[in-house]
Amino acid sequence: MGVLTRFHKPKTASLYTAVGGHEALEVVVEDFYCRVLDDDHLASFFAGSDMKRLKAKLVELLASVLGGPELYTGESMKQAHEDRGILMRHFTLMTSHLKDSLCAAGWPPEAVAQILGFVAQQAGDIAVDNATARV
Ligand code: HEM
Repeated sequence: MGVLTRFHKPKTASLYTAVGGHEALEVVVEDFYCRVLDDDHLASFFAGSDMKRLKAKLVELLASVLGGPELYTGESMKQAHEDRGILMRHFTLMTSHLKDSLCAAGWPPEAVAQILGFVAQQAGDIAVDNATARV
């Protein structure tokens, strides 16, 4: 292999591209909130929510987690969830619905792991009873 070949490796496509970009994220987010609103333990949290805005914000957030070009313009996870009485059992249920949606979409395991890894790190900012909650 020549010197130039070694220094001109093709760019690694981001996970965002691998999953199918913006449209693929919209499909997953739509499916995810269907599962959430069908869940009696979770639906009431969203009673007063603008679901269209919420879906758009989650698409942006997941896109940025996957290395996509979209910027997340929503509130911080702490701001968005504080004073809502969200417990770890709710967080775990949400995470499991998200995992089901990602698996149903047949995404590459690396992309699923990237999203679930990110989400797991947010527990302290979302659930009030998380033992690792930051002050
Ligand atoms: C599992 C990880 C979670 C992620 C990645 C996530 C993500 C988000 C995002 C991106 C927003 C929008 C922020 C904005 O409006 O600027 C949001 C808002 C919200 N989330 Fe979560 N969330 C998670 C867990 C939860 C849980 C466990 C609950 C409740 C059971 C919950 C309930 C809500 C509610 C009620 C809102 C506000 C909607 C509104 O503006 O009316 N979230 N979340």
